[in-house]
Amino acid sequence: MTIQMPDTRPDHSDRSGAHAEISISIATIGDAPALRALHELSLVMLAADAYSPRQIHRLFVTRDTAPPGMIAAGRMLVARRHGFVVGSAGWEPRRFDGQPGAHLRSVFVHPLLTRQGVASALVRAVETRAMERHAIRFTLAATVNAVPLYRRLGYAAVAHGNLDLGDGLSFPVVHMARRVQSAHIDAED
Ligand SMILES: CC(C)(COP(=O)(O)OP(=O)(O)OC[C@H]1O[C@@H](n2cnc3c(N)ncnc32)[C@H](O)[C@@H]1OP(=O)(O)O)[C@@H](O)C(=O)NCCC(=O)NCCS
Repeated sequence: MTIQMPDTRPDHSDRSGAHAEISISIATIGDAPALRALHELSLVMLAADAYSPRQIHRLFVTRDTAPPGMIAAGRMLVARRHGFVVGSAGWEPRRFDGQPGAHLRSVFVHPLLTRQGVASALVRAVETRAMERHAIRFTLAATVNAVPLYRRLGYAAVAHGNLDLGDGLSFPVVHMARRVQSAHIDAED
């Protein structure tokens, strides 16, 4: 899948005004180090108003945002620009009241590429893949700074929560959910 994005480099070499491409594909295990580096950079740069440096540091000490199992299962998508990892989104299969669903994770975008639709494209791509496996309800634990994104994408706040980071620290999140009418029931399992 490829989406067209404006080239925001101040010195873009061809100077043609052409659009730089951002491609979305399934991450491989070799992407894990670049994904983790992107996730830390993204949160440090983009969530500083909502979380302290200590909270952000502890989050990455206590949580793997690029779990090998999720990557190996083909449930982590990566956005690339000029071959570099600039965004991600993943999901875990869940059941809600007996119905298939998905819990979204690891939605991060490079700080230099925000507000260009990258996260929206990644979330929709994840939802599409989960719907191919019959998911009709989606949940996520949103960082406080990301709530406007998910509202825009049709998610509603369900509850406020706190991730336990140990060391007496917690990480406030907003639990959000979205339900779709029907999944792509003719797709492969
Ligand atoms: C939150 C984040 C993923 C958004 O990525 P993005 O690619 O900039 O999002 P999009 O461009 O798809 O945004 C789509 C819409 O969501 C809303 N939105 C996104 N980011 C927003 C922000 N920081 N403030 C207010 N509204 C925002 C806007 O309505 C936006 O549309 P607009 O730009 O036309 O106004 C990105 O800022 C990020 O990586 N933050 C740090 C990591 C993080 O908190 N991840 C979320 C984990 S749950």
